[in-house]
Order: sequence, then C-alpha cells, then structure tokens
Amino acid sequence: MGPIATPVADRPVESAASISSVSRGVKMRAIVQDAYGSSSVLRLGVIDRPEVAANEVLVDVAAAGMDRGTWHSMAGKPYLMRIMGFGFRRPKNQVPGLDVAGTVAAVGSEVTRFQPGDEVFGMSRGAFGEYAAVREDKLAQKPANLTFEQAAVVPISGGTAIQAICDSGRVQAGQKVLIIGASGGVGTFAAQLAKAFGAEVTGVSSTGKVDLVRSIGADHVLDYTRDDYLTGSKKYDLILDIGGNNSLSRLRRALTPKGTLVIVGGEEKGSVTGGFGRQIRALVLSMFVSQRLTMLASKERSSDLEALRPFLETGQVTPIIDRTYSLPEVPDAMRNLEAGQARGKIAIAVQLDSMQDGTPKTKVHS
Ligand SMILES: NC(=O)c1ccc[n+]([C@@H]2O[C@H](COP(=O)([O-])OP(=O)(O)OC[C@H]3O[C@@H](n4cnc5c(N)ncnc54)[C@H](OP(=O)(O)O)[C@@H]3O)[C@@H](O)[C@H]2O)c1
Repeated sequence: MGPIATPVADRPVESAASISSVSRGVKMRAIVQDAYGSSSVLRLGVIDRPEVAANEVLVDVAAAGMDRGTWHSMAGKPYLMRIMGFGFRRPKNQVPGLDVAGTVAAVGSEVTRFQPGDEVFGMSRGAFGEYAAVREDKLAQKPANLTFEQAAVVPISGGTAIQAICDSGRVQAGQKVLIIGASGGVGTFAAQLAKAFGAEVTGVSSTGKVDLVRSIGADHVLDYTRDDYLTGSKKYDLILDIGGNNSLSRLRRALTPKGTLVIVGGEEKGSVTGGFGRQIRALVLSMFVSQRLTMLASKERSSDLEALRPFLETGQVTPIIDRTYSLPEVPDAMRNLEAGQARGKIAIAVQLDSMQDGTPKTKVHS
C-alpha cells in the first residue's frame, strides 16, 4: 500500500488516514487492456483508483496524449520491449496512456514540488483513466496558456524532440536541418524547436501533410512519396530520422562531412527488435567516420518539460492536435494513429463531461 496522501480541498473530504485505507476501494473509469494485441484489446472498465507511492502525485486527469509509444505498449511490439520490463505475456500496466495533464488530487509523503489543486502535465503510466499516479520527477506545472489537451500531447513527443534537437543533435543557429517525419508527434515539435533555435529547416512528410509542415514554419517541405530527399544534392548539418527507415548509407549521403545523424524511430522494420540493428550499426560506424551517427533512447524527465516551457509560453512551439477523442473513443483514436492519419498528435479528453456513452457524468467515489 502507498503512503498517506493529502486530499484535494474541493473534493469530498477524505482524511489522510481514510485515503490510505480506502484507496483500494475507490473506483474510477479507465481504458483497460488485459492482453497485448490490436485496438480491440482496449475496453472501458471500472477499476481501483491507483494508490500513490511516496514519490508520486495522484493526478485527476483532464486529458491524455496518444503516441506511437502507446501503440507499442498496447501491441507488445517490438517483442524486445517485453523482456525490457513491460510484461512478458501481458502488459504490466493494465491502463495504457503515457502522457497526462490534469489537476493534482493528492501527493505522496515525499513530494515537495506539488500540492493539491496544481495544474500539471507530465509522463505517466496509465493516463487513460480518471486518475493517474505520476512520479514527481516526471511532472511539471502546466503552462498557463495551454489547454489541458494541448499540454497532454507535449510530454513524450515534445520531450523526445528537445532531446533529439538539443542533446543529441546539438543544433546551432544557421545550420541546415532535415527532419524526416516532420508531420508526426515528435516531428511537429522538432521542426518548431529547430526553427526556434535559428536553423534552416527542411521537413519531410506525405503529400496530404505538406501544408501542415509548412504551417509550422519549415522553410522547405519535401513529399516522401514523390521526392528523393537523400540524393546528396543538398547536404544537411543535422538529420533527424523519425520515419522511413532509410539505410545508413543513404542518410550519410545527405549529411555534411561533419554532420550529425540522430536516429529517433521508424515503424516499418521488424516486430522483434523494431529495427534496433540499424541504430547499433550507426553507433559502431560513427567511430570510424567523420560524421556523428547517433541514436536516441529518450528519457522521461520533468527537466525537458521545463526546457520546453519558454517555447510553449511564447508560442514558438505550439502543440499540433489532429483531433480530440473522448475516453470511450480511445480504440477509434488508436485505429486513426495506426492508419498514419493523424496530423501531429491525438488528444484524449478524460473529463467525464466529454463522455458520450451514456455513463453517469459524476465521478465514482466510494
Ligand atoms: N527513440 C526514442 O526514444 C523515441 C521516442 C518517441 C518516439 N520514437 C519513435 O519515433 C517514431 C515516430 O514517433 P511519432 O510519435 O512521431 O510517430 P507519428 O506521429 O506516427 O509520426 C511518424 C512520422 O513518420 C513519417 N513517415 C511515415 N512513413 C514515412 C516514410 N516512408 N518516409 C518518411 N517519413 C515517413 C510520417 O509522415 P506522414 O504522417 O506524413 O506519413 C510522420 O511524420 C516512432 O517509431 C516511435 O516509436 C522513438
């Protein structure tokens, strides 16, 4: 059982002692998955509200974000992730969802940075529920100018983008940056960040999203269904490889002699390792060539949310939301993501007012 938690002031009063003793009895609605598989494994259920550990915050979830990582944890692919701790036969986390925004309902005994009532956003396990227990070090105060839905789509994709652009990519003003996959979750943040750092940005996307990539400030946009963007006729100081799984030789051809390649992801390769071999080959090759070839294994940390804050507050980076779905619509949202239709990110409104499935609109209390 978790430690005693502090109740939020404007809720039905639960004393510290009662919270610790009743947490298991308090129910909430959530999207639940008991097995790995397609979106059909996702169902709306009523389960115990999570208990908070000493270093965790109980968030009354207003909105959640959906990204490729959520798909991977639903599908259990690549299989490598199952032996990396996500659960071998079935997911360890019954509730999917990795990005969260909401209001602090209670805090664990060691939490110092948050108090009930704070509006927050961060990286979570179990964001597709009315409440989520979130580690303090993965949570930050929500920028006041963002809605909960906008804030909810930032943490994983925005955090990955700033790590790729700044930490791995070491972007500098005036550099030529190629972002392969600029229309997606990570790419829409990365393109805006690279522009904010003064780079000349070329974004790559499919035909139907060229206008989106242009609208977020890319200087040049290439359509991967028509243009071969890696011929080498134009060289880039930094390439972010987010989609397409191009070979290292093709990617290197478009890099300047001292250029940097950051491999972030790509969905087309192998259900066992997810194309991890290409990333390892890049690291090995990098030791023998003048170009810097790197891969990103992004970290989930609140410091990235703090680093993103000024860009979000000034509007230099705006979260791009394709569509907001309600909690019962999560399987539909997942199908949209799988089909590659989303422009930017998908948001999930978890507030019960947005429920349209006939379920009562008041929260479930014990
Ligand atoms: N390394 C890490 O730590 C880390 C962290 C987060 C995510 N990832 C990975 O990064 C990848 C992208 O994540 P995401 O959330 O941004 O996914 P996403 O929203 O689905 O975006 C995918 C992007 O790739 C583009 N793309 C698809 N096929 C392509 C092709 N053949 N050639 C060029 N571009 C293509 C898409 O363009 P269109 O939509 O226009 O087709 C879109 O811009 C995923 O594989 C994810 O697992 C890795």
